[in-house]
Amino acid sequence: MKLTEAKEWWKESVVYQIYPRSFQDSNGDGIGDIRGIIERLPYLADLGINVVWLCPVYKSPMDDGGYDISDYYQIDPMFGTMDDMDELIEKAGELGIKILMDLVVNHTSDEHEWFQKALANPKSKYRDYYIFREGINGNPPNNWRSYFGGSAWEPVPSESNMFYLHAFSKKQPDLNWENIAVRNECIQMINWWLEKGLGGFRIDAILNLKKRIEYGVFPANGEDGLVFIGHWILNQPGIEEWLNEIDELTFKKHNAFTVAEADVPEERLSEYIGENGHFRMVFDFSYTDIDTPETGEWFKQSKWTVKELKDKIMINELITQRNGWGAKYLENHDQPRSINKYLPQEYQDDRSKKMLAVLFMMLHGTPFIYQGQEIGMSNIRMDSITDYNDIATHDQYRRALLSGMSPDEALEWMYRRSRDNSRTPMQWTNQKNAGFSNADEIWLKTNPNYHEINVEQEQMDETSVLNFYKKLIYLRSDFSKYKEVTIYGELVPVESSDTVIAYKRIIDDKELLIVVNFSDAEDQLFTEGCYEQIIANVELPKIVENKFILPAYTGAVFSKILEVE
Ligand code: GLC
Repeated sequence: MKLTEAKEWWKESVVYQIYPRSFQDSNGDGIGDIRGIIERLPYLADLGINVVWLCPVYKSPMDDGGYDISDYYQIDPMFGTMDDMDELIEKAGELGIKILMDLVVNHTSDEHEWFQKALANPKSKYRDYYIFREGINGNPPNNWRSYFGGSAWEPVPSESNMFYLHAFSKKQPDLNWENIAVRNECIQMINWWLEKGLGGFRIDAILNLKKRIEYGVFPANGEDGLVFIGHWILNQPGIEEWLNEIDELTFKKHNAFTVAEADVPEERLSEYIGENGHFRMVFDFSYTDIDTPETGEWFKQSKWTVKELKDKIMINELITQRNGWGAKYLENHDQPRSINKYLPQEYQDDRSKKMLAVLFMMLHGTPFIYQGQEIGMSNIRMDSITDYNDIATHDQYRRALLSGMSPDEALEWMYRRSRDNSRTPMQWTNQKNAGFSNADEIWLKTNPNYHEINVEQEQMDETSVLNFYKKLIYLRSDFSKYKEVTIYGELVPVESSDTVIAYKRIIDDKELLIVVNFSDAEDQLFTEGCYEQIIANVELPKIVENKFILPAYTGAVFSKILEVE
């Protein structure tokens, strides 16, 4: 394949996602902050990443970790000030790093001024900023379940038979995007941030913007008598006009990076990420929830095989590269740690962590590395449900108990799936609180394995997971002779056994072969051509007559050697 793909700065980036509350505390209050991130910029530059995505740092009562915004134009004091934010954008820029913020416009906090005014005066213009509906004889308009459990309708205090819609927690009322005033408010706010020099946004829960509200009691799909809300609010016809409007009036003008949290069906993908798509890229969700049922209960784990994982990855890769550009991730703030999700306990070690790194970093699209993933952080075992902070964890735990599980069983599921598994403090050193904070009390427990897993130690060890990630990131850098093929090369699957995932990346006369043996047994791969090894997580036997011998949990990248005629 020839290089026909248009080159763009956002395609050539490696993104590092920061959960600010847990990254670095600079003022000793037990909570991470923006100055802490500024202090750690040299670490990020050294890692080689060139974009940072910050989870929300806006003013917020923190009901849902900051995804409940009470003022889009202010930084929450727990994270610092607007001056800190400006300094972060500037100092990161000096190191060649652009900052993305989270854009949360499906809902605000119930403490946002707009919602407060809407409640205080039903005749105010802000009433129409949200979705208020009369109930049916004091009951909600329908039996939709919010994503965080319980009814999606909350009674309005001091008004009878009146409800407001919240797809997430009741402290996150949904905005009414049908109202042009709401759209204009959002457009103005986005431009305000972009004019500050922001690189772009990760766009939260965006497919929920348009609602098809129907009254009635629909067939329940859970013990709670409620029904999954997605059918009425996900990707409803007409949403494209709004998405297009935002893009034209904000992002496009600034050549901004936009990545949407949007699980888009194949037939609509080009509308989203094609040449004139609404976003520059969307996340690939196809395999990250492979272990949970569609209805989303963490405690009803579905069985999966490596073959299914491989098929999901490959199908999505082929569809995405046909339609536009993709965003790849193994972990984020809504997921447990990848090593716990994808590997059996007895094989959760540095070798398999590096194997996962190869698998994901070499795919076609922009890689997103979540803080701590690059040092191989893992899930945390909490002693009690009260140790968890995350709103979704408390909801899932309650539902697990409701389904008949014992508290111990339910807690075991939270260990596997809680979002707090990835929100524990970043492990910098083997000192107090893993070097995250010098406070005596911090907002969420540190994983006790920080004595073995921490940045300081891994920096000194040539063979660490951290140094392995650095090599993979380097492949995409300006200094690498493999840059073009790693970023723009077409992905072509290679035939292999069910537990080997193999693919090529090809551009012009350059070709890489990526091989992952996702099993505890040795395996083999045959392929034509002559290859040399660039990166591998294990010592590999010599390739003899096109036969690659692959020890258990191998992850390796080879480059094709051109045969001179
Ligand atoms: C997104 C965020 C998640 C948040 C939700 C509601 O899914 O990633 O953390 O809880 O939106 O805003």
